[in-house]
Amino acid sequence: MELIAEIAHLRAQVALWRLNGEKIALVPTMGNLHDGHLKLVAEARQRGDRCVATIFVNPLQFGEGEDFDSYPRTLQEDAEKLQQAGVDLLFAPSVEVVYPAGQAAQSQIEVPLISDILCGASRPGHFVGVATVVAKLFNLVQPDMALFGEKDFQQLMVIRWMTRDLCFPIEIIGVTTDRETDGLARSSRNGYLTADERELAPALYAVLNAAAEELQDGEGDLAEMELSAANTLKEIGFESDYFTIRRAADLQRPESGDTALVILAAAYLGRARLIDNITLTL
Ligand code: PAJ
Repeated sequence: MELIAEIAHLRAQVALWRLNGEKIALVPTMGNLHDGHLKLVAEARQRGDRCVATIFVNPLQFGEGEDFDSYPRTLQEDAEKLQQAGVDLLFAPSVEVVYPAGQAAQSQIEVPLISDILCGASRPGHFVGVATVVAKLFNLVQPDMALFGEKDFQQLMVIRWMTRDLCFPIEIIGVTTDRETDGLARSSRNGYLTADERELAPALYAVLNAAAEELQDGEGDLAEMELSAANTLKEIGFESDYFTIRRAADLQRPESGDTALVILAAAYLGRARLIDNITLTL
């Protein structure tokens, strides 16, 4: 595996592969890799001839008071995991390489309608930061396909819409959430949990599942179900940010007759902000 930090070097390597007609699959990450990330890599290797992974803790998507400075940076271990997983090239640039004119001077990409709700409402500017850095990575790597996790359901939608709106000739592939055996979605931020919090954390997925079952049973008012789930989480020890039932197609509130739904939750447990979701068809 090549470990590359400079743009010219990255472009030269990828251009060679493209000249050979090889299909390139991109897996963008912020590092501190776990099995969820490696699931994306495995899928990328299945689908493409070459797998490019990126590690970049993107300052543009962190708000003030968020964990940009303390976000775990474990490049050495990550590189070993990616090499073992069969990644061909790891691009791990510095902030200066990605934002040479500085963050304030960076042109930005805003995907309307879905960027300011849910996680976007709690984290203003977050999805502009995500869309902007992913667009840059798309232009740098020029992959045939790019893989993202369904755990970050709203992020995946922002990227799908951006790809459509800006005509990137890239197939966006969503990968189902990888979980611990107790149901907790794997996340780099799980490392912030204390031992006690870690015991409680799987409740987020359990409450999502319970709500999904209730929805399937077709009884009850959506707003009441949301409120009751948020209260249950509170009782367990979470500080609920949102617990909401939405249309899977656009994350708007369901209307009667909508059958493809997603239940999304975000909640703090101590220092960790955990998110998870369940999709369902009624
Ligand atoms: P990061 O949180 O490192 O996640 C990188 C990719 O791994 C994302 O597509 C995310 O959805 C996926 N992922 C994380 N946990 C997962 C799990 N348990 N199962 C399946 N996939 C999982 O998301 C980001 O980085 C950044 O916002 C990024 C897209 C790289 C832009 O900076």
